[in-house]
Amino acid sequence: MASDADLENLPGVGPATAEKLRDAGFDSFQGLAVASPGELSNTADVGESTAADIIQAAREHADVGGFESGAQVLERREQIGKLSWGVDEVDELLGGGVETQSITEVYGEFGSGKSQVTHQLCVSVQLPEEHGGLHGAAMFIDSEDTFRPERIDDMVRGLPDEAIEATMEDREIEGEPGDEDAMQELVEDFLDKIHVAKAFNSNHQILLAEKARDLASETQDDDYPIRLLNVDSLTAHFRAEYVGRGELADRQQKLNKHLHDLMRIGDLHNTAVLVTNQVSANPDAFFGDPTQPIGGNILGHTSTFRLYLRKSKGDKRIVRMVDAPNLPDGESVMRITENGLEPE
Ligand code: GTP
Ligand code: MG
Repeated sequence: MASDADLENLPGVGPATAEKLRDAGFDSFQGLAVASPGELSNTADVGESTAADIIQAAREHADVGGFESGAQVLERREQIGKLSWGVDEVDELLGGGVETQSITEVYGEFGSGKSQVTHQLCVSVQLPEEHGGLHGAAMFIDSEDTFRPERIDDMVRGLPDEAIEATMEDREIEGEPGDEDAMQELVEDFLDKIHVAKAFNSNHQILLAEKARDLASETQDDDYPIRLLNVDSLTAHFRAEYVGRGELADRQQKLNKHLHDLMRIGDLHNTAVLVTNQVSANPDAFFGDPTQPIGGNILGHTSTFRLYLRKSKGDKRIVRMVDAPNLPDGESVMRITENGLEPE
């Protein structure tokens, strides 16, 4: 899907308007297809009715998917992979690990470890299957400036020796665990296979999901195809930008669209999608219950697996399975250490 779409082909869009649209981040038909007429008329200096026409035309150009046969659905489901957290007890709770072709929502308060989970999965997705990985690469949509290459470095060095040996061999890196030159090379290779993009606002985040789809599609035949997409945090921008009660419906509609884009990447490219979500810190706040994730029902219905992370003593964290098809609810414990996520 071209992201630099020919906006000039849309009705009422000349070169000047096209440029304004692109400057405002509307560089694809999909982005325009989900814009509101008000928003567009403000950013591109066109009347509301022209804006509505542009949106309508963009919807017709945008690829919104189609039907497939039951046999195709079955074939797709047979490809589902499971991605390990590197903690047996948590993998068991998940029925083997984080699934591809699903959205997994990890929610919890600040410091509960959501971002640590996203980092750990960027490492484990690259491991061979015998070591809990999917021999794949990762994408990271970062809305809170949360991605830390140094932490990936810690986590790669913290892998079990057998996993390090196996990945060194696979990447043709000469050396062994603990050998500094080889470890440095290995860390760099892991970092090369993590594609990070910062999202500056919610619209940008939506556009990045479209770019993510392009990248997932381009890398499908690579040695390390994209098998994981993290969105950390899914909701922060939406929460900050749509503050009033009157904007709630608009926010949910956007968030819903965004989630469906993510879901589609997961389905089409056999990718695990992991999104993080904070809980409301202030029980009096409009956003409500301090133990409930932001986003309400729409998010609940779209994410297939929901995990609630909670702080416990010291470096311990409790992972609770809140909602999952065909899996019992339950809890397990892990620790966040220098090496990353570890068993209790
Ligand atoms: P918010 O994004 O603020 O909502 O929090 P979060 O849920 O993403 O928390 P995050 O994953 O950032 O977890 C932070 C916790 O992980 C810290 O409180 C530390 O306990 C632990 N942690 C983070 N980095 C390190 C590290 O380099 N070494 C060790 N040992 N622990 C770390
Ligand atoms: Mg975080």
